[in-house]
Amino acid sequence: MIKTKLTDLLGIEYPIIQSGMQWLAVPQLASAVSNAGGIGTINLTCWPTLEEFADALDEMNSLTSKPYIVNISLAPSQRTTDEIIRAAIKLCGEKHVAAIETSAESPVPYMEDIRAAKLIHIHKCPNYKVSLSMERKGLDAVYIAGYEAGGHPSADGVGTFVIARRCAADMKIPVVACGGVADGHGLAAALCLGASGVAMGTRFVNTTECPIHHNHQQWIIDHTEKDTVLAQRVVGSMMRITKNNAAMLANEIEDRGLRMGLSPAEILKQQFPVISGDMTRRAFISGDVGSATFCTSMGMGLVHDVKSVKEVIDDMVKEAEETLDSCKAYFVD
Ligand SMILES: Cc1cc2nc3c(=O)[nH]c(=O)nc-3n(C[C@H](O)[C@H](O)[C@H](O)COP(=O)(O)O)c2cc1C
Repeated sequence: MIKTKLTDLLGIEYPIIQSGMQWLAVPQLASAVSNAGGIGTINLTCWPTLEEFADALDEMNSLTSKPYIVNISLAPSQRTTDEIIRAAIKLCGEKHVAAIETSAESPVPYMEDIRAAKLIHIHKCPNYKVSLSMERKGLDAVYIAGYEAGGHPSADGVGTFVIARRCAADMKIPVVACGGVADGHGLAAALCLGASGVAMGTRFVNTTECPIHHNHQQWIIDHTEKDTVLAQRVVGSMMRITKNNAAMLANEIEDRGLRMGLSPAEILKQQFPVISGDMTRRAFISGDVGSATFCTSMGMGLVHDVKSVKEVIDDMVKEAEETLDSCKAYFVD
């Protein structure tokens, strides 16, 4: 047990969150994380209709009695309608969800709905300023998604730990380090900085419960922190993705479009066949890694295996405790 402000807030054993991941953050993975003492997340956008999302919540409730989170991405590329988002939040309140993780754009329009549904609200923040403003607006916790993060990283180019340290020093609500953390050393380091826990994506991709083809997991094992690129920079939703054929092609289309003076909307139209979420969903099933974009973080350099979710969490906790206990052993005389 590692007790922090975050474990108290969420009623969990370990300050480890499996954060939202399109197509992968589904009950099979998220319930395993919650059952192992961390807290799992499912993404609203993994289901095409509200009815299917309601079924997913029922499935979660049948697989775990522990708290879990629902991710609501507000990214223009993933965003559903206002009406669906508000109805989904209400449903989460009715179906015993513990918390909502919002990401990508300002969650302010939905804060009242989340509060009315009696849900804890955590927002993924790209920097110190946004984090402070979220605390002032009454959020319960913040994730700091720094430059290393898979998915939408901080566009400021600042690493997770610098932002997390500044936030932890100046804020009262729990601060969660999210980006580039993949083992117990990272958890220990985050706690030493004053963060109350960590949220991870890439490490949880390489678990037996993650519904992804083993080719993608092998790709993560075979590649390092140097094998990601930033994409979709001019279309307004910058992503950190693995450096595969699809990423290179998406960036070539973007560079060519810029040279030709195309507008972001025109570039997006040309890129769409390469970056569409449906291509990624199909690649996760077929195992054709190069055929679609695939979010991974610099944390890829720290992932060398595929293990069960319980092993990931147990090993991380043990390693963090050992690291914290034996830190002085790293000093030399
Ligand atoms: C495969 C994958 C898909 C992701 N999809 C989403 C998403 O749909 N919405 C979201 O808010 N974040 C998404 N993320 C970002 C994660 O929630 C998290 O912020 C990020 O993975 C943290 O960095 P890490 O990979 O170093 O742990 C995704 C990350 C990965 C690896």
